[in-house]
Amino acid sequence: MNPNKALWEKGDFTEIAALMRESGEAIVKSLGITPSMKVLDLGCGDGTTAVPLARTGAEVVGIDIARNLVDAGNKRAKEAGLSRLKFQEGDACNLEGVHDHSFDLALSVFGAMFAPKPFDVAREMVRVTKPGGRVVMGNWIPNDPTSFVSQLLKISSSFTPPPPEGFISPMTWGVDTHIIERFGQAGIPKEKISMIKDTYYFIAPDKSPAQVIDSFRRFYGPTMNAFEAAQKNGKEEELHSQLLELAQAQNRSTIGTSIPATFLRVTVNV
Ligand SMILES: C[S@@+](CC[C@H](N)C(=O)[O-])C[C@H]1O[C@@H](n2cnc3c(N)ncnc32)[C@H](O)[C@@H]1O
Repeated sequence: MNPNKALWEKGDFTEIAALMRESGEAIVKSLGITPSMKVLDLGCGDGTTAVPLARTGAEVVGIDIARNLVDAGNKRAKEAGLSRLKFQEGDACNLEGVHDHSFDLALSVFGAMFAPKPFDVAREMVRVTKPGGRVVMGNWIPNDPTSFVSQLLKISSSFTPPPPEGFISPMTWGVDTHIIERFGQAGIPKEKISMIKDTYYFIAPDKSPAQVIDSFRRFYGPTMNAFEAAQKNGKEEELHSQLLELAQAQNRSTIGTSIPATFLRVTVNV
């Protein structure tokens, strides 16, 4: 089994996505979508951005490597009566079957950054976008104390065995020089790439930070793996207390949880 696929099918990301819906809607509002547009949401999960994209009337295809999330997305689309929204299984490294220049916008919010071959991802996102269209990515930023998920993943990976040789950290998608190099190889000059810092919110009015961390522990593949490894070394409590400390320090709400998380928003004009 492809380890990238196995990682995301391991848990149930819908439980984490439930904390991210408001920001998913906000990012879609900021994109200037019109009903005549055709939009790809790559690494779409169960549709945090794909569902609000489709609510604008645009034709939307969500592609994700995890079968369970594709199924969950199609269920949400059906329940919402969104007939112009389809979810399908696919790999951001190789969008075989997707024609060149199919989309006005190829969006990926914390999705394609997790695919293992970043140069292939950049090439594929550019290939399937129409000339004059846009690629937009949301990427967590490494070593930024305000980028909640990057911090959570940093703590998690410090409890996990080292990755196989040649592994490229997803966090490199949060570094401008890598982004310019990757899209450069895909034929996009530096002047057509812009990057700004933006904020995503993890919101759960009915959950404490401890309960939010518990959700990551039970449902988020990378954190589940970290707890499994930590358990073998008797370090489960240490991992838990570091994650809890992070969530408590970043929480801005007095009732429940609201954690702002800085990310890099990348726009590529194709
Ligand atoms: C952090 S989740 C984000 C999901 C969604 N974009 C959201 O904002 O709720 C990462 C998603 O990327 C997907 N993913 C990881 N590697 C992928 C790949 N190679 N191709 C397509 N999707 C991938 C995962 O299955 C997962 O749904």
